[in-house]
Amino acid sequence: MTTRRPILERVVFAKNQEELAAAYADWAADYDSDLVDEMGYKAPFTAAALLHEHLDMPDARILDAGCGTGLVGKALAALGHSQIDGLDFSAEMLAQAQKKGVYQRFIQADLTQPLGIADNEYEATACVGTLNLSHVGPGAISELVRVTRGGGPVCFTVREEAWVRDPYEETLAELEQAGQCRLRDVREIPYIEEEGSSCRLCLLETLDA
Ligand SMILES: C[S@@+](CC[C@H](N)C(=O)[O-])C[C@H]1O[C@@H](n2cnc3c(N)ncnc32)[C@H](O)[C@@H]1O
Repeated sequence: MTTRRPILERVVFAKNQEELAAAYADWAADYDSDLVDEMGYKAPFTAAALLHEHLDMPDARILDAGCGTGLVGKALAALGHSQIDGLDFSAEMLAQAQKKGVYQRFIQADLTQPLGIADNEYEATACVGTLNLSHVGPGAISELVRVTRGGGPVCFTVREEAWVRDPYEETLAELEQAGQCRLRDVREIPYIEEEGSSCRLCLLETLDA
């Protein structure tokens, strides 16, 4: 895969978490204008709309995991949601998200590690743009399911190259087999218009195991 923008090359092909964190620190202030306005990043809006379809309570507690600058939170707030927490490992991205004024609480945490969040803490979870090459792998999905109450939706995107390379389908099958969730929807959607890239948009329903 080749990408045109040097900053996108840095985040997609970071060799380790230090390189990834440094790239996001450098990008945070310009992320929204570069990625949404110039490059046509679509996934946050499609994912927020899908999560909203599966949530009938506007006051549902929602975790936005890998919230970045808060595009998903902003889209959910525009759809009427008011109880959204943002989680990310980058202080600089969280600082941008804070400016959106739509999050109740921020959590600085690493999604590749167990999260310090109680079981069933949230009624819904989103994770957009973060299950990706050099970012977070399929191992994080079980934590997203764990912190989401039984019956609640977990909506996430996986960049297509990561979906093909990493064992997402196997991980989802294992979680289903363990009775932790049911895969309700998976579809390929446009990811970043300028790249012509796509991602998988998945919707899980969590189950009381
Ligand atoms: C492409 S951005 C997506 C941000 C936002 N969800 C969106 O769609 O605009 C990926 C985000 O994942 C965060 N991230 C990457 N690795 C992470 C990790 N191990 N734990 C927590 N956040 C991580 C980055 O800091 C960045 O904010």
